[in-house]
Amino acid sequence: MSSVDSNLNAWERDYSIRGRLWGGGVRGIPHLSDGTSVLELGCGDGKTLAGMPCSWKIAALDVSPQALRLTRRMLPDIRLILADAALLPFREESFDAVFAFHVTGHLRLQGREALAREVARVLVPGGKLFFRDFGTEDMRMGQGEAVEESTYLRGAGILTHYFTEVEAELLFCDLLPISVGTHRWKLRVKGKEMARAEVEAVFQKDRSHEVL
Ligand SMILES: C[S@@+](CC[C@H](N)C(=O)[O-])C[C@H]1O[C@@H](n2cnc3c(N)ncnc32)[C@H](O)[C@@H]1O
Repeated sequence: MSSVDSNLNAWERDYSIRGRLWGGGVRGIPHLSDGTSVLELGCGDGKTLAGMPCSWKIAALDVSPQALRLTRRMLPDIRLILADAALLPFREESFDAVFAFHVTGHLRLQGREALAREVARVLVPGGKLFFRDFGTEDMRMGQGEAVEESTYLRGAGILTHYFTEVEAELLFCDLLPISVGTHRWKLRVKGKEMARAEVEAVFQKDRSHEVL
């Protein structure tokens, strides 16, 4: 089963029924120079894209045609591609930066490993990966049907894997870790404080293999 098979129906159904799923602004978009070529994996309905400056050369992909339609309505000028993050339709060294915000954790282990290899392949030497996904300390960890280690299927059929910092480093072992940490905050649910946690990391492709 490809990583697309395991995700597409659930995501497509969700976007078709509920429309835009991700509200609010996105925090922590890094400063990158004008003209930087950027790829966003699993762009959804465009929440993260909406926070990126239009001076970047942006391409974005998702497995859900409905998600891409929703993004297109909001951001008519961005290059959008229907594709699997684990099988990227780009040549080696195509991008200066890749964003993977809340997408890697929606793939099973084999898919996550393929995604990590693909990111390393499409980044230019010195290029950066900006990674963000829920951590094992998050309040939802353990909810749903366990399908793999720290990986659960919830009601709508969407699979979520919860990361540790060490695991994120191991997954992207073809890249050099620049920073790896956890962003923690509290969410009040029915009068109770619940813990939210995202593992956030920046990785860089080694320059040492560059042909001088
Ligand atoms: C939680 S949303 C994140 C959206 C966006 N990155 C953001 O930060 O707002 C996850 C998205 O990943 C997409 N997705 C899931 N599996 C994928 C895969 N194998 N390849 C590409 N996109 C995928 C889903 O369709 C969904 O739109």
